[in-house]
Amino acid sequence: MLTSRIISRSSKVATATTSRLTTPVRPKSIYSIRPITCSTKLYKEDKRQPNFASRALEQTEDDHEGAFGRTDNTIRIEHPDEMEHPPSKPIQGRGGLHFKRTLASFTMENRTVIVTGGARGLGLVMSQACVISGADVAIVDLNKDEGQRQADELMKHFQEENPGAENVPKVTAHYCDVSDNESVKSTVAEIVKVHGKVDHLVTSAGFTENFDAIAYPPDRLRKLWGVDVDGTYFFACEVARHLIDRKAKGSMVLIGSMSGAIVNVPQPQAPYNAAKAAVRHLASSFAVEWAHAGIRVNCISPGYMLTALTEKIMIENPDLHKQWTSLIPTGKMGQPEDLMGAVCYLLSDASGYVTGADLRVDGGYTIT
Ligand SMILES: NC(=O)c1ccc[n+]([C@@H]2O[C@H](COP(=O)([O-])OP(=O)(O)OC[C@H]3O[C@@H](n4cnc5c(N)ncnc54)[C@H](O)[C@@H]3O)[C@@H](O)[C@H]2O)c1
Repeated sequence: MLTSRIISRSSKVATATTSRLTTPVRPKSIYSIRPITCSTKLYKEDKRQPNFASRALEQTEDDHEGAFGRTDNTIRIEHPDEMEHPPSKPIQGRGGLHFKRTLASFTMENRTVIVTGGARGLGLVMSQACVISGADVAIVDLNKDEGQRQADELMKHFQEENPGAENVPKVTAHYCDVSDNESVKSTVAEIVKVHGKVDHLVTSAGFTENFDAIAYPPDRLRKLWGVDVDGTYFFACEVARHLIDRKAKGSMVLIGSMSGAIVNVPQPQAPYNAAKAAVRHLASSFAVEWAHAGIRVNCISPGYMLTALTEKIMIENPDLHKQWTSLIPTGKMGQPEDLMGAVCYLLSDASGYVTGADLRVDGGYTIT
């Protein structure tokens, strides 16, 4: 269920009067510790100037210190139930043959790609990018029906945009709970049976929710890490095992998030941030472990992307949208299709010498 006790304050995001955001209720003891201290005075104290060091300790109505750099422990967004999730649509008008010169190394022809979480959102768009580039795709998702519907749509779109094409990519859908290692093993075996082989993996199955750390329900915490971390780990290992057994080269893209490098504000989401930091470092660790086998592993860390779900949240919470976009140098959230080039680059031979990298697709969020 999407609990809408999220942000319902009036739009004061960029002003110093956002007292709810600037003066969260915190235990006094936190304010008695100052992280920055200096034993020697580096300047001559001028009694006429305000004392900035001690001002931060006082809590006044117009306090601004840390105003835009803090989480707000009143924000709670629970991941919605499956039935409440708005479905995604394939991107229109991008898939036809074109006659502009481009590097042949970007092609995905004769490759089979598994995309976890491919029934919706970013996973669906990345699946489509692979199909447009000529790959066969196995969509893996908890929601098999939606995966199948989208698999059929992707093939239909490809045929409409490439009339008379000799090779129509094969797109299939498979049920899997990525947090369950047995389910992962049987799904990869099923895909190998249907497609004959697997060359690439994209791990997009994952979710976030918002509770402040001390109120995070432990069962939800385990569920989140189970899908976002264990699921990524299990799938990457199973595909690596298959590639090593086949003595075949391959490449993988693990979907992290900018949250693996920064702490988002104002919504609190410590477990998700930690999970995505883990995903990023799993990519580097796997890259080193499997380099001997010709398997490259990279990470894509998206910023705030406008999927059907985030769009719904933005419409319901315009203040949150304002605050988020005020922190993005390009001034806008990303479109899911902004990941199409990134995923094809990292999967294909175009990135043959790139492994263990983290490609941030975040409109510059993490560099400021
Ligand atoms: N949307 C964003 O702004 C954003 C930003 C940064 C990173 N990400 C990451 O990108 C990935 C995709 O996000 P999205 O916005 O497309 O989410 P989404 O909810 O739209 O899609 C996720 C898909 O994963 C599937 N899934 C969930 N749990 C699963 C499980 N246990 N086993 C198999 N499939 C499962 C869902 O059914 C769904 O189809 C996630 O890992 C997310 O953390 C998203």
